Amino acid sequence: MADIEQQMSKIAVTQKVYIDEERGSDENGKGTAELPFKSALVAVTSTNDSSEAGYLMKKKGEEEYKELAATALKKAKKGYELAQKKAKKQAVQQAQKSQGDAEKLAEEQRKIEESKKVVIEEDKSLPAATKVTINKTREHRGKRIKVSGWVHRLRAQGKEMMFIVLRDGTGYLQCVLLGKLCKTYDAITLTQESTVTLYGTLQEVPEGKNAPGGHELVVDYWQVVHKSPGGDDAVTNKVNAESDPSVLFSQRHLVLRGENQSAVLKVRALTLRAFREYFFKTGYTEVNPPCLVQTMVEGGSTLFHLPYYGEDAYLTQSSQLYLETCLASMGSVYTITPSFRAEKSHTRRHLSEFSHLEAELAFISFADLLDLIEDMVVTVVNKLMDDPESRELILQLNPGFVAPKHGFRRMKYEDAIKWLNEHGVKREEDGQDFQFGDDIPESPERFMTDTINEPILLTHFPGPIKSFYMPATEENPRVTESVDLLMPNVGEIVGGSMRIWKHQDLIDAFARAGIDTSSYYWYTDLSKYGSCPHGGFGLGVERFIAWITNRYTVKECCLYPRFPGRCQP
Ligand code: 4AD
Repeated sequence: MADIEQQMSKIAVTQKVYIDEERGSDENGKGTAELPFKSALVAVTSTNDSSEAGYLMKKKGEEEYKELAATALKKAKKGYELAQKKAKKQAVQQAQKSQGDAEKLAEEQRKIEESKKVVIEEDKSLPAATKVTINKTREHRGKRIKVSGWVHRLRAQGKEMMFIVLRDGTGYLQCVLLGKLCKTYDAITLTQESTVTLYGTLQEVPEGKNAPGGHELVVDYWQVVHKSPGGDDAVTNKVNAESDPSVLFSQRHLVLRGENQSAVLKVRALTLRAFREYFFKTGYTEVNPPCLVQTMVEGGSTLFHLPYYGEDAYLTQSSQLYLETCLASMGSVYTITPSFRAEKSHTRRHLSEFSHLEAELAFISFADLLDLIEDMVVTVVNKLMDDPESRELILQLNPGFVAPKHGFRRMKYEDAIKWLNEHGVKREEDGQDFQFGDDIPESPERFMTDTINEPILLTHFPGPIKSFYMPATEENPRVTESVDLLMPNVGEIVGGSMRIWKHQDLIDAFARAGIDTSSYYWYTDLSKYGSCPHGGFGLGVERFIAWITNRYTVKECCLYPRFPGRCQP
């Protein structure tokens, strides 16, 4: 305050101050005859209204300086006073604000210091607390338990009550801390994502109140295990609902803690378990083929190449050929192995690395293969919807989900082409009708599947648009014994076929595809040493999960997605 008074005190000015309405400048003027001001207000302000010698003014069009008229001086003085008052008020307000901030800070500091004196101890006279995970809490209602986990949500209600929603990976638990328990240093500095251990008794919440599981932990003692940062470095500043998708992918290790993302990954785990149970019950053996290979299955353009002890190797695109080698050894086989595709596709359903569930069966017909794919999908989805845990998670993510029933629509490729043309869907490249032999790209395929809105087993694709190992049908050599299973919202989730099994036919197929058979000797041997009609399929696990959990992209359906430009975390 003293500084402000001083600033405003008047210092006597003993020289005349010059004002020139025409040539003067309020910005650069100095009030001298050489550098006059432009306005009387600025002239008066420059002297802090303390000129003893007075002001000289040269009006527009005049030649000579004259004493500033009394009315003009009065007006300028008034203006000066008003500006002074305003400045003083602002200065006082600023000083009060700084003082308020300082007081607030001091108050917070005082509270923190005070809180350090609040010490809580476990009451040893209480029954010993049983350590439980959140998914097992129901069995312990009314009993004293101890639960550890992450602070998922945090809310203080006044000074005497604090709510924590605890997350431990198995579920969520509402916990209430009362009185002294929410006044400790740890309580008033607690942050989201800190880890804590809470002791207390589990009580049913009164009717009309909501809490996960219908109960809450009334805490009697608690400890912080590790504190997550607050302020700028707080987890909510790293990722939140507004974050850009690329930020969400970079921070996926934190995003995974969210309710929906963890639910998707749990559905994924339960789905893989359901598939394994299905295969176990129906007599398949699980095998684990290598990922480092020297052959390709689905065309050379999508191979990831890598040096391998002085030789060339690739990351596998599909385990199919290896599964075929297992038929004579273990009968029906399946695998859940990563497959890699170096596609530069930035679509909702392409990954560079995906979990590939593949199965292979001997002595089957094409009709058997279609029935097997349908039966597997229907049985696995029913299993997921019958199990309370997976059902709840799927309906949380996809409330309208209904399990598909047996009797999938079967449609030949040729009829899909007709369907597209009848529905006015044109080829993207030239706007013309689709022709027999065209590949059906993702967007028309999706339009058709979404319009029909039921699972479609799309069959009999022309040989040239499919892989070299697919046999032509007996009735029509232009089409193959091949199938894609299309699901609404995703499109293709399964691709399968019968395999060329006669030796010469296979050698001819390799030749047509321009593939040198030398590194495939182990595969061509299969058609030599006791061959048989056989077939199989591959299912994209992420696409299956995207379908049942209604995710926009397969990138949300795996732990750490890999796609062009993304190999982290
Ligand atoms: O149709 P695809 O390429 O078939 C094969 O690889 C066969 N060798 C499988 C077999 O018969 N054993 O791939 C099968 C499935 C597709 O239907 C799709 O669900 C998934 O694998 N898939 C992908 N998923 C995510 N990202 C990609 N880039 C995928 N490529 C294929």
